[in-house]
Amino acid sequence: MNVVITGSRGLIGRYTVDHARAALRDQAGAQIISVDQGGMGDWTANYRVADLTDAGQTFTALSGADAVIHLAAIKDHGLVGEPKLFLDNTAMTYHVLEAARHLRIPRVVLASSVQVSRTVRMLRDTRYRYLPLDEAHPVDPQNDYALSKQVGEVMADLYAGVYGLSIVSLRFSAVTRREDMAGWPTPVAAPPHWALYAYVDVRDAARCAWLAATVPLAPATHHVAFVVARDTMTATPSAEIARGFFPDAELRAPLDGHASLISGENARRLLGFEATHSCRDPV
Ligand SMILES: NC(=O)c1ccc[n+]([C@@H]2O[C@H](COP(=O)([O-])OP(=O)(O)OC[C@H]3O[C@@H](n4cnc5c(N)ncnc54)[C@H](O)[C@@H]3O)[C@@H](O)[C@H]2O)c1
Repeated sequence: MNVVITGSRGLIGRYTVDHARAALRDQAGAQIISVDQGGMGDWTANYRVADLTDAGQTFTALSGADAVIHLAAIKDHGLVGEPKLFLDNTAMTYHVLEAARHLRIPRVVLASSVQVSRTVRMLRDTRYRYLPLDEAHPVDPQNDYALSKQVGEVMADLYAGVYGLSIVSLRFSAVTRREDMAGWPTPVAAPPHWALYAYVDVRDAARCAWLAATVPLAPATHHVAFVVARDTMTATPSAEIARGFFPDAELRAPLDGHASLISGENARRLLGFEATHSCRDPV
C-alpha cells in the first residue's frame, strides 16, 4: 500500500507521516510518500516537492498512490490575503480530487475544519439549533478559510457520488501539541467561544487521519467527521456554557463535566477513533 501525505512538513503532516511509517513498518513494499512545497525533493527518500496549486505538479506528486491524506493548505484566516487563501485552498483540493479520479486512487482524506460550522468569530449570531454540535447541524462558514473548507466538502460529494471515490472529510478542531497546551484549561469561557472550546492533541489527529485512510469504507461514499478531544479546553463546565451562552440550543446530551460541545461520535462509529489525550493529563 502506498499512501501520499500532502502538507507533510506542517504540524499535522509531520505527526501523520511518523504515525503512518510506524503503522506500515512491517508491511513489505508499503510506502509513505511525503509531499510539500518546501525544501529539496528526494524521490528516493519518498519526499516529493510540489506546489499543489499547480495541476501538473499535483498529478506527478500523487502518482502511484493507493490513498491520499491531503493536509496541505493555508491553515487559517488572516495568514494571506483572502482571495489567495480561498483560491489556493480550493485549487489544491480540486487538483488532489482530480488526480485521484484520473490516477484511480480510491481513497482520499481531506482536512476540513470545525470552522465550517460557525465556530469562530460568531459574526451574525451565536445560535446553534442543538448541542453537542454534530455533522448533521447546518454549516455556516464565516470567513475565507471556512468557506474554502466547506467548498472542499462540496467537491468531495461530487467526486464520491459521480466518480466513485471513497472520501473522508475530517473536521479538525484546534490541533495542538501537548507542550503548547500550557494555560489550558483556560479559566473562564467567554465570547467569541473560539472553536466551541474543542481541540484535539496532534497525536490523536494524526492517528485519526491514518484511520480515515485505511479503515474499510464503501466506494462512492463521502463521510464527514469532527475530530475532537473528549473534553473542552476551558474550566467552565460545559452545561454551564450551553445554558449561559447558547440558551436557544436544544441539549441532546447531558454535557457532564467538561464534555466536548462538539460530538466525536461519528468519528468513533465510522473510523473507530476516540481521542486518548487531554489537556487535563499530567505533563
Ligand atoms: N492545525 C489546526 O488546528 C487545524 C484545524 C483545522 C483544520 N486544519 C487543517 O489541517 C491541515 C493541516 O494543518 P496544519 O496545522 O498541519 O497546517 P500547517 O500550516 O502546519 O501545514 C500545512 C502545510 O501545507 C503546505 N502547503 C501550503 N500550501 C501549499 C502548496 N501550494 N503546495 C504544497 N504544499 C503546500 C505548507 O508548506 C505546510 O507544510 C490544513 O488543511 C488545515 O487547514 C488544521
